[in-house]
Amino acid sequence: MRMYDIIHKKRNGGELSDEEIDFLVRGCTDESIPDYQLSAFCMAVYFRGMTDRETTALTMAMAKSGDCIDLSGIDGYTVDKHSTGGVGDKTSLIVAPIVAACGGKIAKMSGRGLGHTGGTVDKLEAIPGFGTELTSDEFISQVNNIGLCIVGQSGELAPADKKLYALRDVTATVESIPLIASSIMSKKLAAGSQGIVLDVKTGSGAFMKTAGESETLAKEMVAIGKAAGRKIAAVITNMDIPLGNYIGNSLEVIEAVKTLMGEGESDLTEVCLTLATQMLCFVTDKSEEECRAMAEKAIEDGSALNKLREMITAQGGNAGVADDFSLFKQPKYQIEIRSEKEGFISHTDAEKIGIASVILGAGREKKGDPIDPSAGIILKKKTGDFVEKGQTLAVFHTDDSTKVKDAEKEFFDALTFSDTKPDNQKLIYKIIK
Ligand code: URA
Repeated sequence: MRMYDIIHKKRNGGELSDEEIDFLVRGCTDESIPDYQLSAFCMAVYFRGMTDRETTALTMAMAKSGDCIDLSGIDGYTVDKHSTGGVGDKTSLIVAPIVAACGGKIAKMSGRGLGHTGGTVDKLEAIPGFGTELTSDEFISQVNNIGLCIVGQSGELAPADKKLYALRDVTATVESIPLIASSIMSKKLAAGSQGIVLDVKTGSGAFMKTAGESETLAKEMVAIGKAAGRKIAAVITNMDIPLGNYIGNSLEVIEAVKTLMGEGESDLTEVCLTLATQMLCFVTDKSEEECRAMAEKAIEDGSALNKLREMITAQGGNAGVADDFSLFKQPKYQIEIRSEKEGFISHTDAEKIGIASVILGAGREKKGDPIDPSAGIILKKKTGDFVEKGQTLAVFHTDDSTKVKDAEKEFFDALTFSDTKPDNQKLIYKIIK
C-alpha cells in the first residue's frame, strides 16, 4: 500500500477502505509517513469530507494508536463529559461533583487551556496544593473511594491524533467536521468511560460558529460513540455569550463553588443541570425528569459541594477554599472597566473576551507559558443588559498592570451596543442521542 495512492483517492473524492485508514494511522504513529503526505491527506479530507464509515474507522484507529485506559477496576457506571471548548466554561467543576454525588463514577482526564478557551486542569491547579498527576492505581482507587477524580492527560492517549492535530494546526485544516469529530472521539474512546456526554458549544466563543455546523459535528460524534458501543448524547449549547460571569482560573473555581451552593448564574446553572441530567440517565436508567430532580437535589442538599470538597482533599488541595475564597492567590490589581457608551449590549464576541482574559495572564500565548491563577475578568454586564455611560462593565484581575490597556481594547472591541434590546438567545439548542 502507498500513501500516495491514499491521498490521490481522497483528493478525487473516493472512499477509503478500513485497511487504507489503518495503514495511514499506523504510518502516522510510527512516523514512517512524512508530514507533507499527512498534511496533504488532511487537506484532501478538508475539501472532500469523509463518509460516516470512514470517520468511524479513522477514530477507532487513532483511539487504538496509543494507551487505552482500563477502567474495569472501577465498581459502578463510569461516565465522562467533554466540552468542545468555550469562554467561562467551568461546567466540569460543577457537573462532575453533581453526578458523583448521585452515584455516577467520574474518572476524568482533562486538558489545559487552548487559545482563548480555558482548561479544567489549569482551573483545578488554581486551588492551592491540588495535584493533577496521579498514577493509574491512585486514579482508580480514588474513583472507587469517592466516585470522582479529575487528572491531566497521562501516557500516550491517541498519539496519532496528537500528530495529525499539530499538522492541522499549521496547515489550515482544523475546521473539518470529520477531522474534529475523529480527533475528539478518539481521545474520549481511549479514556475508557462507558457513557459520554458531549457539550458541543456554538457561537462566537466556540470552534463552531453556527448552530447548523455544531449539529452536524454533534451527530457525527454521537454516531461514532454508538458504533463503538458507548452510551452517548450531545447537548448543543450557547457559546455566543461567555458562560456565567467569571472568566479565569481561580475565578472560575469560585463561580463553580457558588453554583454548587445554589447561588450560580441562571445560564451556567441551566447548562450544568442539563449536562448532569443526561449523564445521570446513563448511570441510572431513570427518566430525564427524575434525573434532573436528582441533580437539583444534589445542589440543594449540599452533597455535590461536599463531593467537590472530598475531591480537592483527596488530590492534596486545600478544601477550605470552598468556604473562604481569600485562600486563593489574590491578584495585585482589580480594575473596574467602565462603559464609554450608553445602550443595550446587543452582541458579545466571546472569543475576544477570552483573549482579553488571556492577555491579563489567565491563559497562554504559547504552549508551556506560565499562567497567573488569579488573573481574569468578572463580567458585570452581558448581552441584553442596558448600560449607562460610566457604569462598570467588568472588573479585570491581574498582576501585570502593563497588560490592562491591550486587554481593555480587546474587551471593548468585543461589545456591540444598540438602542433596542436584542432578542433573548437560546441557551440549549438541541440534545442529540
Ligand atoms: N479539539 C480536539 O481535540 N480536536 C479538534 O480537532 C478540535 C478540538
